Amino acid sequence: MSAIENKSENRSTENAGEGVSEDTRDDKGLGLGVIFFLVAFVVCFLSGTFLFPKLLYSKKEQPFNFDHALHTSEAGDCEACHYYREDGTYSGNPKLASCLDCHSEEPLGETEDEAIFVEEYVVKGKEIPWLVYSRQPDCVFFSHAAHTIKAKMDCVECHGHIGESTVSRPYEENRLTGYSRDIWGKNIFGIKKNSWDRMKMDDCAECHKERTGHQGYCFQCHK
Ligand code: HEC
Ligand code: HEC
Ligand code: HEC
Ligand code: HEC
Ligand code: HEC
Repeated sequence: MSAIENKSENRSTENAGEGVSEDTRDDKGLGLGVIFFLVAFVVCFLSGTFLFPKLLYSKKEQPFNFDHALHTSEAGDCEACHYYREDGTYSGNPKLASCLDCHSEEPLGETEDEAIFVEEYVVKGKEIPWLVYSRQPDCVFFSHAAHTIKAKMDCVECHGHIGESTVSRPYEENRLTGYSRDIWGKNIFGIKKNSWDRMKMDDCAECHKERTGHQGYCFQCHK
């Protein structure tokens, strides 16, 4: 008896048998497909998680390191540099003039950062082009007074612990939008552990809803 006959016999007697012999071939294809899918998935997942953010953001260094902890203890408080003007607007990053209360063309110490500061900016009378981590798009209106005076919020809530830091972290710029990474946040899955991790429209609106009962009208944040 030949094998063919055997097979046909199987076929005729048992339907399931036919299923088995053909399925094993399909299973192999399916198995390879699953492996291929998993490998492709892992490759995409890893590049999406680790490579893409690296490519999406370019790192820029501040002009030189600024030691916040040292300066806050020297100056006494944050307001020595970050204050409200008489019209209620916020001074933001300090101008060179406020550094000159203490610094002159004679360096106070011996660090390389101070040498760059003195030679490039103090001597030349040039403003320091600080990169602003929290910079919002131009279309966004933000008022510090509404938050820190009226709502009595702490700087840390939106900015994190920069005021206590001793080194300036790199500024990361989104290559597509040109915006700071602090807007979209570090975590590409959108997970937010701290209130200062991200500051997108939804983050502003979420807190407004929570604290004022209303997320705000478009014209309050876009003028
Ligand atoms: C209240 C006085 C005061 C003011 C205002 C001030 N500094 Fe300083 N700064 C100091 C002192 C004191 C040191 C420490 C010098 C040392 O012993 O190394 C210092 C050190 C530095 C250093 C070197 C620190 C390091 O560790 O490398 C830099 C850079 C610097 N200041 C930049 C600035 C800039 C920029 C401003 C303005 C935004 C400014 N400082 C405003 C007092 C001041
Ligand atoms: C001697 C001046 C000085 C003092 C005092 C000072 N700062 Fe600053 N601050 C600066 C300078 C200069 C920058 C810009 C460089 C940088 O980002 O580190 C800055 C930047 C910042 C920023 C970053 C804004 C952004 O998004 O880029 C925050 C937030 C801030 N300071 C908070 C504080 C707090 C909070 C304190 C008090 C605990 C404080 N600073 C005390 C000079 C000062
Ligand atoms: C409700 C959130 C919030 C709080 C609270 C807050 N900030 Fe800001 N801060 C922002 C945003 C948003 C920006 C960017 C504004 C923009 O781009 O128009 C900013 C910008 C800044 C800048 C850079 C401004 C510039 O243009 O040079 C400094 C410096 C700063 N904040 C310091 C502080 C300090 C100091 C405190 C505490 C007294 C504080 N902020 C509290 C949200 C906040
Ligand atoms: C953690 C909470 C919180 C976050 C984050 C926050 N806000 Fe607010 N904001 C408030 C509170 C509370 C008020 C109300 C202050 C008051 O009038 O008493 C307010 C008020 C304002 C006002 C004034 C509204 C008006 O017309 O009186 C503007 C504008 C504003 N926020 C813009 C923003 C923007 C833009 C962002 C995001 C970049 C933001 N806020 C993030 C809490 C927050
Ligand atoms: C609480 C403040 C707040 C309110 C209210 C708000 N926005 Fe925004 N909006 C922002 C902030 C902050 C950004 C920038 C960050 C981002 O893109 O998420 C933004 C970004 C945008 C952008 C993208 C612009 C760009 O350059 O990326 C559009 C479009 C926009 N908002 C439309 C609206 C409209 C329409 C409304 C009313 C339904 C509204 N917004 C209400 C804060 C607000």
